Amino acid sequence: MASRIPQSFIDDLLARTDIVDIIENRVNLKKTGKNYSGLCPFHKEKTPSFSVSPDKQFYYCFGCGAGGNAISFITEHENLPFPQAVEELAKLAGLDLPKDDSPQRKNEHLYLAQFKILDLAAAFYQSQLKNSTAKHSAISYLKSRGLDGAIAKRFAIGFAPPGWDNLIKTLGMTDTDQAHLERSGMVIRHEEKDSLYDRFRDRIMFPIRDMRGRVIAFGGRILGDGKPKYLNSPETDTFHKGRELYGLYEAKKNSRKLDKIIIVEGYMDVISLAQFEINYSVATLGTSTSLQHLERLYKIVPEVIFCFDGDKAGLKAAKRALETVMPVIRDGQQAKFLFLPEGEDPDTLVRKQGRQHFEALIKSATPMSEYFFNSLSENIDMESIDGRAIFSSQALPLIQQMQPSLLQQMMHDRISEVTGLSIEQLASSNQLHEQYDNSYQQMPEQQHFTQSNRQTSYSRPAHNSPRTAYSPRKKRTANITLVNRLISLLLHHPHLITLVDDISDIAQIDEANTDVLALLVKYWRSHPKASIGQMLIDWQDNPEQASKLLIISEVSRLNPCPDNNFQQMFLDSWDKLKERKNDLIYRDLKNQQTSLKSNLTTQAKQQAKLYIEQIAAQHKKKQQ
Ligand code: UTP
Ligand code: MN
Repeated sequence: MASRIPQSFIDDLLARTDIVDIIENRVNLKKTGKNYSGLCPFHKEKTPSFSVSPDKQFYYCFGCGAGGNAISFITEHENLPFPQAVEELAKLAGLDLPKDDSPQRKNEHLYLAQFKILDLAAAFYQSQLKNSTAKHSAISYLKSRGLDGAIAKRFAIGFAPPGWDNLIKTLGMTDTDQAHLERSGMVIRHEEKDSLYDRFRDRIMFPIRDMRGRVIAFGGRILGDGKPKYLNSPETDTFHKGRELYGLYEAKKNSRKLDKIIIVEGYMDVISLAQFEINYSVATLGTSTSLQHLERLYKIVPEVIFCFDGDKAGLKAAKRALETVMPVIRDGQQAKFLFLPEGEDPDTLVRKQGRQHFEALIKSATPMSEYFFNSLSENIDMESIDGRAIFSSQALPLIQQMQPSLLQQMMHDRISEVTGLSIEQLASSNQLHEQYDNSYQQMPEQQHFTQSNRQTSYSRPAHNSPRTAYSPRKKRTANITLVNRLISLLLHHPHLITLVDDISDIAQIDEANTDVLALLVKYWRSHPKASIGQMLIDWQDNPEQASKLLIISEVSRLNPCPDNNFQQMFLDSWDKLKERKNDLIYRDLKNQQTSLKSNLTTQAKQQAKLYIEQIAAQHKKKQQ
């Protein structure tokens, strides 16, 4: 019989799986605020009571009470036993199920034992801050750094006293315990003497916790100057540096609804910010920000702010972060870049300037798209044609790696604006042939807008697809609803709105997404110069508008028509919409006729009659 699937594997699988992705493929979901909702797949219903929380990574139905995580969703929905459901998800996450005789399976009990021993170690270090004979040096160091008892407690800060065997003497009573301590990296084997000694000595101890609050590793800081300044646990079964973020558990614990997270460099930065009530920072553990870090963060919050020192190393790190975040970001999500004055880190700055100042800096951080254009054009003469060609040849491949999104569209547009060339012209210009692998040329215009997959890699069109054949798009065009077509046209060409008269109460028209169209019309009427990018940024701050961004992103991928007659198509569609509105008024008035007759004065009746006749005449004319 197959042995149990190790908990470590399940943890890892859940960490790499996004429940929204899983459910979205099986249930029609709509974004409603922070969560998604739809019709429950587990019972019959007409109005949605099924809700998915990306934040908590679970689903719940208020109608039938079904609920759980990604694995239980698959077991329920596909009617699969647990191991098969895990297998199914593992395939999607690109993980191999550990074989029956794999170390991970055999070592499952070891994995659990390590959590236990790490937890005991954390408790020991914490107690040493109170009980060790050397505690005064530790306490005065913490005080000199401005930390108080409350914050030390919140981050479970401890102290590893001086000496080679404090921990091993306390926790390594049996051979088994000693083995656990060694496996978890807390003690080191002295090969010649064949004895064990404590890894962390005379250091302030920062426990690193996973999302569930279990201690998985430690960082230890020397008191004062000396090298190495920080010592971290090695990679172990429980600790994978490139994946973990210091402070994430504490941030999540502190607040039920985080809306942004700032990534800083060090332990002390996270702790100091938290002491100043900025409870949403995390630190990478001496590594640069990885794809896994970002995927994890964007599951929790829509906005991530990278914080860097204002020095050269900071700028370099920022470029790397930019390249990591670009392929990850989706509509509704944001990345920002914050550069601190040279010589400061968040810890020193927040202590000097206080919370308000620091939060103002966070607010004014540079949006990704802006940083992207600034940093790429930095050493390029953008006044010269050559310079702009170099610029676009560097920028386009990066933009191409982005998820199909409005932001991507906006960035393409921006390049066109800067270079004065259409994307197609750019792609077919000689410099770009190589970078673009020739394929971009063969795409129908706005191919990037019609991509509906969410993969990072770009699916390339077949090489022999003739440049002028629009058949796949014609099909799409035929399928698109009137309202979606208008939305899509407006998104591509916001200025179109200036060509038409208002239609009152568009949202009342009985068709999907009229509310979205109404909001877009209203927005572009009052911001006629706003680009699609500006719109995205503005909308993110308003909950009603923000809740529509997902729909907008979906609709934007439906390509309404070839570019050359978009204006006519918009005008025609707008007329049709007006007719629908008139139909609606006509129907309403007709319905009300009876009550009108009985309730109105003679004069009002006459007016109403005239109006009805007018509309009826229009209606008839349109139908002919
Ligand atoms: P910093 O030197 O910026 O750390 O290194 P810090 O948090 O500001 O330290 P303080 O303020 O001097 O106490 C940033 C991070 O790089 C890793 C640690 O994770 C640290 O928090 N690091 C740094 C190490 O792992 N080892 C080192 O020797 C130094
Ligand atoms: Mn520091």
